[in-house]
Amino acid sequence: MKTSKTSSSKRDLLSMHELSGRDIDAILKLASKLKQEQKSGRARPLLRGKTLGMIFQKPSTRTRVSFEVGMYQLGGDAVYLSASDIQIARGETIEDTAKTLSGYLDCIMARVYDHADVQKLATHASVPVINGLSDAYHPCQILADLLTIKERKKKLAGLKMAWLGDGDNVCNDLLLGAAKTGISMTAACPAGYEPLEDVVMAAKSEGKKTGADIAVTSDPAVAAKGADVIATDTFISIGKEGEQATREAIFMPRYQVNAGVMRLAKKDAIFMHCLPAKRGQEVTAEVIDGPQSVVWQEAENRLHAQKAVLCMLMKKA
Ligand code: CP
Ligand code: NVA
Repeated sequence: MKTSKTSSSKRDLLSMHELSGRDIDAILKLASKLKQEQKSGRARPLLRGKTLGMIFQKPSTRTRVSFEVGMYQLGGDAVYLSASDIQIARGETIEDTAKTLSGYLDCIMARVYDHADVQKLATHASVPVINGLSDAYHPCQILADLLTIKERKKKLAGLKMAWLGDGDNVCNDLLLGAAKTGISMTAACPAGYEPLEDVVMAAKSEGKKTGADIAVTSDPAVAAKGADVIATDTFISIGKEGEQATREAIFMPRYQVNAGVMRLAKKDAIFMHCLPAKRGQEVTAEVIDGPQSVVWQEAENRLHAQKAVLCMLMKKA
């Protein structure tokens, strides 16, 4: 996790760039422990007296509820702040908002459009800042995904993962998370919709250290062949609604995850999707509601992975 320039002791989680393989391993181990404790009624109030502020520029189901419930389960509190209801909407700067909120809160989570906004928030806040999704990255989703893969496959290093569709925020961070944990990943995306170039370069270089092969192709069959995990996301991310017709024409039907794609993967391959999903677009109902799908476990794991992140950032592991 990134240590801020403004405060020597605080750490932020803005993307998977900031986490080392060792950080990821520690978060996943703590997440599993907290999950077991919660499920067996032995949860500890590790964040009693702590308050998380949650700024949302975009809608959310999983991120909002899992962060809020996570804080309650850890004995703390959470405050929901719609960006349209706070003074940011009337032009108060992110800098001033960050400084003000740091006086009330112990941690800030923000879901934003422009990744620079959450970076600015982190620079000017004296408390840890977590990216709850920006147009470029979604680290909390990837930690939940890795936890789910580990639970299902009993390992991470040595697995093969395929991504089909948009090289979006989830794909960017998944490439980094896969590379850092030794999972080989091939993203199959149409031309013009590939993941960020610097992310691909960073993932390839991380992969060299862990033995993970990282590749980008336009051919879904190349990515899916022999995969242990097939993952996708909406073709139309929040904010891209105006591009719906163009995107549908480019992505469909070639990049849809359907039974034919799943047949190219290993027999025991799992299907993952961060949700929300559009059945009949990026995935067929047969796949997402079928036996290989792990999407509900993946959604639940948002809670457990984020509780680990919250504890670590607020130094209560
Ligand atoms: N996967 C995810 O981040 O879901 P929400 O948009 O519902 O938070
Ligand atoms: N790529 C999607 C992820 C939603 C959780 C979006 O940005 O809308």
